[in-house]
Amino acid sequence: MSLIERTPGEPRLIHGADGLNTGVWPMPLDQLVTPTDLFFTRSHAPVPRIDLAGWRLEVDGLVDSPRSFSFDDLIRRFARQEVMATMVCAGLRREEFLSLGPLPGELPWGPEPVSTGLWAGISLGDVLRAAGLKDGCRHVEFTGLDEVERQDVFGFGGSIDLTKALAAEVLLATELNGEPLPPEHGFPLRAVVPGWIGARSVKWLGRIRVLGEPSSNYFQSKAYRLQRELNPSDPRDVTGGVALREVPLNSVILAPGTNQTIPAGRLQVRGWAMGSGGCPLRTVELSADAGHTWRPARITQTGESWAWSFWEGEFELPRGRHVLAVRATDGSGTTQPATVRETWNVKGYNNNAWHQVAVRAE
Ligand code: MTE
Repeated sequence: MSLIERTPGEPRLIHGADGLNTGVWPMPLDQLVTPTDLFFTRSHAPVPRIDLAGWRLEVDGLVDSPRSFSFDDLIRRFARQEVMATMVCAGLRREEFLSLGPLPGELPWGPEPVSTGLWAGISLGDVLRAAGLKDGCRHVEFTGLDEVERQDVFGFGGSIDLTKALAAEVLLATELNGEPLPPEHGFPLRAVVPGWIGARSVKWLGRIRVLGEPSSNYFQSKAYRLQRELNPSDPRDVTGGVALREVPLNSVILAPGTNQTIPAGRLQVRGWAMGSGGCPLRTVELSADAGHTWRPARITQTGESWAWSFWEGEFELPRGRHVLAVRATDGSGTTQPATVRETWNVKGYNNNAWHQVAVRAE
């Protein structure tokens, strides 16, 4: 089962049943930066209503002087920074794991939960340095002002390592694509952690805490963790796994869509690819026989360091069923695993197996 019907036509935003999790299909392939109205959303609770006049950003924990900033304080005090960054949800391509068995309670995302934004705001590092970092600080925790219900009610959150938190590309964003952040993308302020799973880019920020240990927030300590062995007494428990950080090298076929019927003859295949941790791509290869033979794809648009690139390639396909595949290799020589058996994990995160798309040529 997939969240949306992937039929050709004009790109349209398709909402999940609760309206919080959206993606578009077909995904736009003409510009690297995703138009804001086509940018996917992933929210674990309703969008909070925030009155800017009363909003504050609290910065505390292992800092010399805990701070409470108004929106104007932040804008006036810290220099404006920009970054082009692709937001990738850890659930991207989870539905391919369903061929191995069910993943109860997890959204069966296909290739939709990924978009690229031109983010602007202030540098997280500048704000942390203004508060002054104490000895022993190792992690930076973000907490949102949304109200997630599990056993109790709390703000969505998580943490990143101090080294990443101080990196120039990590922003506290106030703008997406030249406009103030829309409510569903985190108005008035969100973290943008380029190269890391989307869950660490916490929206509707209310608090930043500097810690010696990783955040104990549910979404860091109990979810968004990679665990390959099932806990027999609770098949959804991943507390024993590793907290997710960087998104892995990945490449995805966006056209044609899976199970599409296409005219026999010349076929153009298009999609995106991105290295892990800002590592540039070395090659993108395509196959029309499920990965038995490969040929290079052409990179048509190269994204900035933290953004995806677009590629294309052609095949002559006779009538019949064909399985297209793509795989990328980055500058470190890392390539994608062949099958979902290699990437499977308990909650179905970070699938970066060769992306395969079956088509019927008639
Ligand atoms: N921040 C808050 N406060 N609440 C959330 O539910 N979802 C996270 C992250 N930040 C989330 C959040 C997840 S899982 C992803 S993939 C990204 O936001 C999605 O960002 P977007 O909705 O702007 O695309």
